[in-house]
Amino acid sequence: ETTFETILVETRGRVGLITLNRPGQLNALNDQLIAELNQALDVFEADEGIGAIVVTGSEKAFAAGADIKEMQAKTYMEAYKGDFIASWDRISRARKPVIAAVAGFALGGGCELAMSCDLILAADTAKFGQPEIKLGIMPGAGGTQRLIRAVGKSKAMELCLTGRLMDAEEAERAGLVARIVPAAELLDDALKTAETIASMSLTAAMMTKDCVNRAHETTLAEGIRYERRTFHAMFATHDQKEGMAAFTEKRRPRFRNA
Ligand code: CAA
Repeated sequence: ETTFETILVETRGRVGLITLNRPGQLNALNDQLIAELNQALDVFEADEGIGAIVVTGSEKAFAAGADIKEMQAKTYMEAYKGDFIASWDRISRARKPVIAAVAGFALGGGCELAMSCDLILAADTAKFGQPEIKLGIMPGAGGTQRLIRAVGKSKAMELCLTGRLMDAEEAERAGLVARIVPAAELLDDALKTAETIASMSLTAAMMTKDCVNRAHETTLAEGIRYERRTFHAMFATHDQKEGMAAFTEKRRPRFRNA
């Protein structure tokens, strides 16, 4: 059992729950937190009993960005040699579905972390933004790339250039978040959504998210080809035979993740 200092890690049924936990700093993301988050992801990904992962923060903040105090004195050579921010990429390479449950501030690196998950559920209190410009810098963990894909060029450009925050309503309208949930129900809803995903064939869920994410990385024609090959591969799985047999026999499927 690993103990973490900046995150809380729990298992709820087939769902792995990671809670960012630096309450005094509004969950500002520092090297330690990212390292611990990555370690927890490694453990959940290796655990056959886990079918989906939820990442959440506190009522007040999902995460208020990269830790400004930790970055302040950094030099170019330190940033370059240490490949600053590269380790933040782990979550976007997770093979199991990852849900970000966002209440309060998701700013800068916090917004980027949420966007690195597969889907975002937002409390009605959620506020999203890329305010780095106000610090004399720019987003460095995917903000200029992922936000435009989520909300389009004009809104992404406006948010990145002015640092303006966007509330949950605007974020949902723009397509950044899947759904808005009353703040008090956010965690339950996220866990329920994750449990639903985790009750499916994990193989099918992993292949599905792989294909959806591929859409951002390739042309339509290549993406369609990739999807079709992956779809073909599903006919080699136990779970395809079981899922379709269960439908025909009017019973619940018993997926084996195989
Ligand atoms: N880094 C370090 N500490 C932070 C922090 C951050 N990103 N955000 C908040 N904190 C700390 C504050 O310094 C404060 O600590 P002290 O009590 O020791 O002073 C504590 O958290 C509470 O914050 P506030 O008192 O500021 O709370 P508030 O409710 O008045 O304001 C806020 C909330 C508007 C989110 C404000 O904290 C804020 O603007 N935070 C910074 C947001 C930001 O600029 N994020 C981008 C960071 S850069 C980045 O992320 C780069 C990248 O792309 C990877």
